[in-house]
Amino acid sequence: MAELFTPFTLKSITLKNRIAIPPMCQYSAEEGVANDWHYVHYTGLARGGAGLVIVEATAVSPEGRISPNCLGIWNAEQADALAKVAQGIKTNGSVPGIQIAHAGRKASANRPWDGDDHIAEDDPRGWQTIAPSALPFGGHLNKVPQEMTKADIERVTQDFVDAAQRSLDAGYEWLELHFAHGYLAQSFFSTHTNQRTDEYGGDKEGRSKFLLDTLKAVRQVWPEHLPLTARFGVLEYDGRDEETLQESIWLVQQMKEQGLDMLSVSVGFTIAETNIPWGPAMLASVSERVRRETGLPVSSAWGFEQPNDAERAIVEGQMDQVLIGRAFLSNPHYTYELAKALNVDKPSWTLPAPYAHWLARY
Ligand code: FNR
Repeated sequence: MAELFTPFTLKSITLKNRIAIPPMCQYSAEEGVANDWHYVHYTGLARGGAGLVIVEATAVSPEGRISPNCLGIWNAEQADALAKVAQGIKTNGSVPGIQIAHAGRKASANRPWDGDDHIAEDDPRGWQTIAPSALPFGGHLNKVPQEMTKADIERVTQDFVDAAQRSLDAGYEWLELHFAHGYLAQSFFSTHTNQRTDEYGGDKEGRSKFLLDTLKAVRQVWPEHLPLTARFGVLEYDGRDEETLQESIWLVQQMKEQGLDMLSVSVGFTIAETNIPWGPAMLASVSERVRRETGLPVSSAWGFEQPNDAERAIVEGQMDQVLIGRAFLSNPHYTYELAKALNVDKPSWTLPAPYAHWLARY
């Protein structure tokens, strides 16, 4: 029996297997509203057999979008469109999850295939970015963000709370707070980007305050019986990884006390100058350590698409759930390929009956 295909229960939600599709921005919305592209994309992924499908980074406010074409959930029209996506994911056999996000200093950017850089200052499509400190990312993202006031910080926390409530009302059963990838929350935690001298900066307690306050506030509206998770970059590969990892593990322990149910272990991507060891299963041992030292269920992505790597991640306790992204963009029915490679009994039945029957038949 392949461990990858065993059920996974978190709170009241039981996923049919350990395979989840992580959030992947589609940069295909207008005014933050999901459309037919999103509906077809997400229902197609759900049909492909993963236990959990997490909708892409969905902005909690207009200035929190990465690009003008990112999804949002700051108004009712956006929530209605996302409700249809959630229902479609469920109808097609998967659990609907959503990642709510604020892009911080990396916001106001052109789509990856349109340059991936900040929108020019004189282009009306762009907007003022905000961050813990007025420090630009640099390189292709050189816009200088405005340092957030205390009122800004409290407003963004409330935006996360409102977004969580709308996600719940829209039918999502799994919530992921985007605290990773150099976006707003990650940049509060990192000393590279947070030079504040007030209670939101300084030592690890100060740099964690925005993340913990936001998590705590969201937990008030997100029901206890549904999974509340976060994605967080636990290290940067910047040469001081042991120190960062120790601080990160401390933070995850605090998050656990505030009601976090699971962590998606990722990389910080806070700065450009890093030495990331790109390769298959690159976060396997990091994820295993976070899981062991925090006692929290974890998932991880980045190069786990090879069947043996994905299976090993579960068998060896590196993680509780494997996130597989790009392989599903290549083949939305990738679960079937994994099932065949891992000798799952009747592998085609990872897909719905109208496909499964015929794939098994001849
Ligand atoms: C991503 N990734 C990503 N991560 C995230 O937390 N929120 C997001 O919205 C996105 N958007 C996104 C778009 C696209 C097109 C890609 C390819 C990736 C990262 C993603 O969730 C995942 O971590 C990576 O794709 C690595 O996993 P794979 O592809 O190696 O399985």
